[in-house]
Amino acid sequence: MAEYNIILTKETIRNRVKELGETISNDYNGKNLLVICMLKGAVHFFSDLIRHISTPMLVDFARVSSYKSGKTSGQIEKISDITIDVYQKDVLIIEDIVDSGNTLRYYIDKIKKSSPKTIKICTLINKPSKHKGCVKIDYVGFNLDCGYLIGYGLDFAERYRELPFVAQLTSE
Ligand code: IMP
Ligand code: MG
Repeated sequence: MAEYNIILTKETIRNRVKELGETISNDYNGKNLLVICMLKGAVHFFSDLIRHISTPMLVDFARVSSYKSGKTSGQIEKISDITIDVYQKDVLIIEDIVDSGNTLRYYIDKIKKSSPKTIKICTLINKPSKHKGCVKIDYVGFNLDCGYLIGYGLDFAERYRELPFVAQLTSE
């Protein structure tokens, strides 16, 4: 049986997601918004967040993986990509968590080749001490410096994604 400590409750997440949605709505007013959900981890965050964004948008999904069986493998692999053309769009990438920043850097470099008008990043959780600012994040739900997190989309070996809160895994 897994043991964990809840770090972000349902209510805390709900309130912050609403605030982020309002900020993004103001910033993207009148823009050509394309929101990209990074699967699988960002799926809860993405679906809650876009319902708080009033700007008309297109949505698409991509899956890039750097973690295997709950541990980092150091290898980044693109599993599936968006199908909408990003040319001249205002692209907003939605991530679950930025740790080393390697996954995001890999995907941003790829998207840039298709000439979006702008490209910004929104993550639910940022672990700033890990990437030390080497990837620019425009919208952060929570800056956290803690151990391995599960829940609200985040997995350990594909489990715990369904939990409605974010928790730190203390034992497996
Ligand atoms: P990065 O390339 O090191 O920034 O790792 C990014 C990806 O690894 C995230 O999008 C998550 O899918 C996964 N990841 C990183 N830290 C955690 C964690 O604490 N719990 C669950 N998944 C994580
Ligand atoms: Mg992810």
